[in-house]
Amino acid sequence: MSHRLAVLVSGTGRHLENLATLSTDPAADFDAEIGLVISNRPGVGALDRAARFGLRAEVLQGVEGESDEAYGRRVFDLIRAADADTVILAGFLKKLWIPEDFAGRVINIHPSLLPAFGGKGCYGARVHRAVLARGCQVTGCTVHLVDEVYDNGPILLQRWCAVHPEDTPEALAARVFEEELLALPEALRRFWRR
Ligand code: GAR
Repeated sequence: MSHRLAVLVSGTGRHLENLATLSTDPAADFDAEIGLVISNRPGVGALDRAARFGLRAEVLQGVEGESDEAYGRRVFDLIRAADADTVILAGFLKKLWIPEDFAGRVINIHPSLLPAFGGKGCYGARVHRAVLARGCQVTGCTVHLVDEVYDNGPILLQRWCAVHPEDTPEALAARVFEEELLALPEALRRFWRR
């Protein structure tokens, strides 16, 4: 069965581009199309990438004083209207409330081996700086189901890589990201096969 993705973004959109490329490559064994992209920030690179791939994209910013649930309801109204069955948080950095009908169908990728280096405020470059500061010798990425707690839901797939003594946060981020690009599509293939 072909799947329809809603991809939620806040930043550069390299994962979005990877998923869009795979979904148009018949040799990729990736039976999905992207029905909708939602960004909580205007003007981000992910929106340019969505336009380049001809994807429908919406900017949905949080409103001052709005609860997580009220924001989440607006997000999932769009997702239902787009007929998406799987929601991917691909660098989406806002807390997302999930309605019951989408429980177990929202998937996040995080650039560490959770449960290490996760939680509120631990995202992107901050993760890699913390990994280096702690002297870790391995790190990696985690694809997991999203529940109501940050970076907490059941793990679908992890990939790891070495940390080198001379690594800068940027060098480490690049090495982890290579693993991320493999981890997210592979986790989705397995998730849909379950
Ligand atoms: C990725 O490295 C992803 O793991 C991270 O944001 C980056 C998004 O890159 N996500 C988190 O830190 C979530 N806690 P992209 O916008 O270029 O796809």
